Amino acid sequence: MKKMATSRKVPSVIAVLCLGLIAAVEGRYSSGLCDEGDSNVLLEFKAEFSDEAGQLETWKEGTSCCSWDGVNCNFNGRVRGLRLLNRNHLEAPSMIAIPNASTAAGASLGRLVALNYLIAEGVYFNGPIPSSWGSLQLLTHLNLVDPNFTGSIPPEIGNMRELRNLQLDGGELEGSLPWEICKLANLTVLQIIGNKLTGGLPPCMGNLTGIQEISFGSNFLGSNIPSWIGNLVHLTKLTLSDNLFSGPIPPSIGRLTDLKQLLLSDNMLSGSIPQEIGNMTEITDLAVENNYLSGRIPSALANCKSLRFLGLHDNELSGFIPKELGFLPQLTLLQLFNNNLYGPLPAELGSIPEENNLSIDVSNNSLSGPIPDTLSSIGALYAANNYFTGGFPLSLAAKAFSVDLSNNRLSSVWQVGAMPENPQLHQLSLGSNRLTGQIPTWLSSLVNLGTLDLSNNELKGGITPSLLALKSLTSLNISSNPLHADLPTWSPNFTGNIGSLDLQGALLTGPLPAKFLDGFPNLFHLDLSDNFLVGELPSNIGDRVSLTYLDLSSNKFWGLVPAAIHNLSQLSYLDLSNNYFMGPVPSKP
Ligand SMILES: *[C@@H]1O[C@H](CO)[C@@H](O)[C@H](O)[C@H]1NC(C)=O
Ligand SMILES: *[C@@H]1O[C@H](CO)[C@@H](O)[C@H](O)[C@H]1NC(C)=O
Ligand SMILES: *[C@@H]1O[C@H](CO)[C@@H](O)[C@H](O)[C@H]1NC(C)=O
Ligand SMILES: *[C@@H]1O[C@H](CO)[C@@H](O)[C@H](O)[C@H]1NC(C)=O
Ligand SMILES: *[C@@H]1O[C@H](CO)[C@@H](O)[C@H](O)[C@H]1NC(C)=O
Ligand SMILES: *[C@@H]1O[C@H](CO)[C@@H](O)[C@H](O)[C@H]1NC(C)=O
Ligand SMILES: *[C@@H]1O[C@H](CO)[C@@H](O)[C@H](O)[C@H]1NC(C)=O
Ligand SMILES: *[C@@H]1O[C@H](CO)[C@@H](O)[C@H](O)[C@H]1NC(C)=O
Ligand SMILES: *[C@@H]1O[C@H](CO)[C@@H](O)[C@H](O)[C@H]1NC(C)=O
Ligand SMILES: *[C@@H]1O[C@H](CO)[C@@H](O)[C@H](O)[C@H]1NC(C)=O
Repeated sequence: MKKMATSRKVPSVIAVLCLGLIAAVEGRYSSGLCDEGDSNVLLEFKAEFSDEAGQLETWKEGTSCCSWDGVNCNFNGRVRGLRLLNRNHLEAPSMIAIPNASTAAGASLGRLVALNYLIAEGVYFNGPIPSSWGSLQLLTHLNLVDPNFTGSIPPEIGNMRELRNLQLDGGELEGSLPWEICKLANLTVLQIIGNKLTGGLPPCMGNLTGIQEISFGSNFLGSNIPSWIGNLVHLTKLTLSDNLFSGPIPPSIGRLTDLKQLLLSDNMLSGSIPQEIGNMTEITDLAVENNYLSGRIPSALANCKSLRFLGLHDNELSGFIPKELGFLPQLTLLQLFNNNLYGPLPAELGSIPEENNLSIDVSNNSLSGPIPDTLSSIGALYAANNYFTGGFPLSLAAKAFSVDLSNNRLSSVWQVGAMPENPQLHQLSLGSNRLTGQIPTWLSSLVNLGTLDLSNNELKGGITPSLLALKSLTSLNISSNPLHADLPTWSPNFTGNIGSLDLQGALLTGPLPAKFLDGFPNLFHLDLSDNFLVGELPSNIGDRVSLTYLDLSSNKFWGLVPAAIHNLSQLSYLDLSNNYFMGPVPSKP
């Protein structure tokens, strides 16, 4: 720590010197030179807002406005910039317009005709965008986060001819985008996220050929995505997500070869994803999830070598998963769940570099065939609710943190390949498959396993002691298997970390041994219901004081319920029903 501080000292001293210099220069031309008219405008503005955090404390009559916090002047003492940031505004809103029926808050700012930039975060205007702002003809940056504007965007916005960057995120703006926005020939960034805009994109926007970013996320914009969007060839970011767009994605979108982010999720888009998408060789994020897209996943995606995030989930896509996706060297997130995909999981996905920590989610499709034995480099595989068959490839345990293969058709011959060294697998779900035979011993080699779900299979025989001895294991579910076995009567070398143990409906026989319970000092969830357990409950059940859930129902326990059960003060669920207990049976809390 100390060393770092020393080595950073030199640059920070330089930085401080530079800042000082800039301040001194600004100060020299500023103090005393503040334009009186501009000063009055700012005081008028200040009076229109509450200011609990004292953001405008330095704005005082009789001092130079050029020295006020957030105010920047030009050489003539005219205000050229306002920067009013309250980064904490969501937790502690401070500048909120005082309601005034006769004027829109901030209207006076229209008289700051030298203004180049107006940047604010958490200044709540709570009214319409003042049409007077049309006079701000030198404004290049209007960036407002949570201005909370209401009403429609005034056509006067088209008068701000120099505007390059327009951002009005967070508010109640309604109505359609005015065509006057197309007069802003120099616009490079147009971002109006989280308002209530309606209607389509004005066709004249096809002339804004210099534009680089369009973000209209979370509005009520709709109609089709126009094909002229392909004219905006300098676009690097296009966000129309969470709106009401319908119809197809126009193939012309392939002309946007500089595009890095295409975010169209949460709309009502239909038709197939155009092959032309493969022309976007710079794209890193492609999110079209939650639409009604159908047809196949275009194999042309293989050309999108920069792709990191591919979100196609919650659509109506069908056909095979193209093996070409395995040739995307940057891919880190592949979300294909909730579609109608069929065919195999491509083995090629295993070629994606290990450092990507690729997470694959193909849950809820109709995929089939074996899980390929090539996936030793991926970070996670969620593949529940498909028709996968065959065995469990041990290579999958190498780097993956989480593997969910529940609700498939994995079967008896279910171990493929060799156990990797130091397998990373932490969460494994194989529930609701067709696993038969003994609980496999290789599971006990998964030294980092934390949760294991084997429920609802055809497993037989006793619970492997070495599995219970896994140091990292905290949750084990073997419910609904025909184990046909007794619980161990020895106190196993349990490490005591298992908190949740579900053995419901496992055809267990014999007693519940006190020594068995001794093995789980941290148990909070124990389900032994629907078995054939017999005999009296051991009184050390009262030692498992962390239990919150205890279900012993539908067994053949008899005798008196041990009084010690009352010592389980954390219990919120207790079921002892359908047994042969005598005397007072504690009721469910
Ligand atoms: C409303 O605005 C007008 C004009 O700026 C001003 O004279 C008046 O004092 C304001 N009223 C309130 C309640 O702030
Ligand atoms: C933002 O506007 C909404 C709706 O007009 C209003 O309910 C809310 O109080 C405003 N937020 C703040 C911080 O003033
Ligand atoms: C746009 O930008 C160019 C170059 O920066 C500039 O010459 C021009 O005056 C600006 N304004 C308009 C309306 O084109
Ligand atoms: C683009 O501008 C030209 C001339 O200014 C106009 O004729 C044309 O209709 C505009 N294009 C669109 C798509 O609005
Ligand atoms: C764009 O994609 C289409 C279809 O994949 C292809 O025929 C065309 O050659 C591509 N155009 C360019 C400029 O790459
Ligand atoms: C890889 O991703 C998983 C989640 O899928 C995360 O838990 C794990 O920490 C990540 N590993 C690395 C090395 O970043
Ligand atoms: C898959 O479908 C089930 C049942 O409809 C649902 O509960 C689950 O959330 C879905 N999985 C994903 C990843 O959406
Ligand atoms: C064990 O798996 C079954 C069936 O999949 C499920 O219903 C149950 O909730 C799971 N038990 C625990 C403790 O999560
Ligand atoms: C418990 O540990 C002892 C000594 O480490 C070992 O001899 C014994 O086999 C272990 N028992 C079980 C059931 O793992
Ligand atoms: C239950 O707890 C009480 C004190 O809280 C203790 O005296 C008693 O021995 C405990 N009963 C059993 C059976 O552990």
